[in-house]
Amino acid sequence: MARDLAIDLGTANTLVYGRGQGIVLNEPTVIALNSRTQEVLAMGHDAWQMIGRTPGYIVAVRPLRGGAITDFDITQRMIRLLFQRVGVHRFYRARVLICVPSAITAVEQRAVREAARRAGAVETHLLEQPMAAAIGASLPIHEPLGNMVIDVGGGTTEVAVISLGGIVALEAVRVGSFDIDAAIQGYVRKEYGIAIGERTAEEIKLAIGSAYPVADEWKAEVRGRDLMSGLPKTVMLIPEEVRGAIEEVVRSICDAVISCLARTPPELAQDLILNGIHLVGGGGMLKGLDRRIAEETKLPVHLVDAPLECVVVGAGRCLENFDSLREMFLSRGDDMRSSR
Ligand SMILES: Nc1ncnc2c1ncn2[C@@H]1O[C@H](COP(=O)(O)OP(=O)(O)OP(=O)(O)O)[C@@H](O)[C@H]1O
Ligand SMILES: [Mg+2]
Repeated sequence: MARDLAIDLGTANTLVYGRGQGIVLNEPTVIALNSRTQEVLAMGHDAWQMIGRTPGYIVAVRPLRGGAITDFDITQRMIRLLFQRVGVHRFYRARVLICVPSAITAVEQRAVREAARRAGAVETHLLEQPMAAAIGASLPIHEPLGNMVIDVGGGTTEVAVISLGGIVALEAVRVGSFDIDAAIQGYVRKEYGIAIGERTAEEIKLAIGSAYPVADEWKAEVRGRDLMSGLPKTVMLIPEEVRGAIEEVVRSICDAVISCLARTPPELAQDLILNGIHLVGGGGMLKGLDRRIAEETKLPVHLVDAPLECVVVGAGRCLENFDSLREMFLSRGDDMRSSR
């Protein structure tokens, strides 16, 4: 049983890496909650499975939807559940490395450390997500070279330039792939007068969502509930209209990249012409997003091999090489916001 764990507690997906084991848990960040007692009954796939098979007061929620790993209570409960799920008990003296948003304040860092301690960890280290992503993507972060990563997650987009093992420029916005789902939901409601659930909206995004015209565009059949009659209704959506519907969100993601570039020292910005930008996170897999960002920045953009796993794999590498990479961890009292 691993006692060293790396945790990426994302707004959409939670991944845990066990030292010497690789990824030991990869599930949606969903919990089943008893709405009467606020007791957490299950998480991940288990939480989904409980839905519909239990009394109505059990509800499934995405507890980090607001983007807050920094919410003390929820984070503590989630970490405790994760320890249970991967079989870590108090007597294992678990050492954990938690991936955190790079805009985290000193106070929030303390909250995450304390949450992990109360959940049973004896030693907690924090690693900034873009740093973990860059390590996961095998970028030469220790060189005096500009490395840019864009992490488009469910609830957040973080853009960072890393050189000599540190973050040099950063832009973090609370816009992510969930906002694309919401935009699709809003469009279908407004344009066709039908209501669709967020899962259906996500399916439309995965099937025909794009940020740039792509070859072989398919139409998608969408079933929803007619708002006027209340009856089921089917409409056809074409990729072009979906592109229009999500444009505002895609625009915000591109703007975040452009602002980060504007903050990058010129020498490092030049390196990007050769090295390009690395795109990670599930939201980065939106069709044509790489092409769109490349078009807007005039820089090459590479989608990494396993965008959903990149952050936890990078943190896992830090665990495997704990002593040589521990300088990457946030040290106690670091306040990233005030130091930049
Ligand atoms: N092929 C795809 N095309 C478009 N979006 C996708 C694709 N695959 C996954 N996604 C979206 O990626 C999002 C999840 O990404 P990810 O797991 O990186 O987020 P997260 O790390 O949990 O969130 P955050 O980093 O914001 O806390 C979901 O909204 C999902 O719909
Ligand atoms: Mg993430």
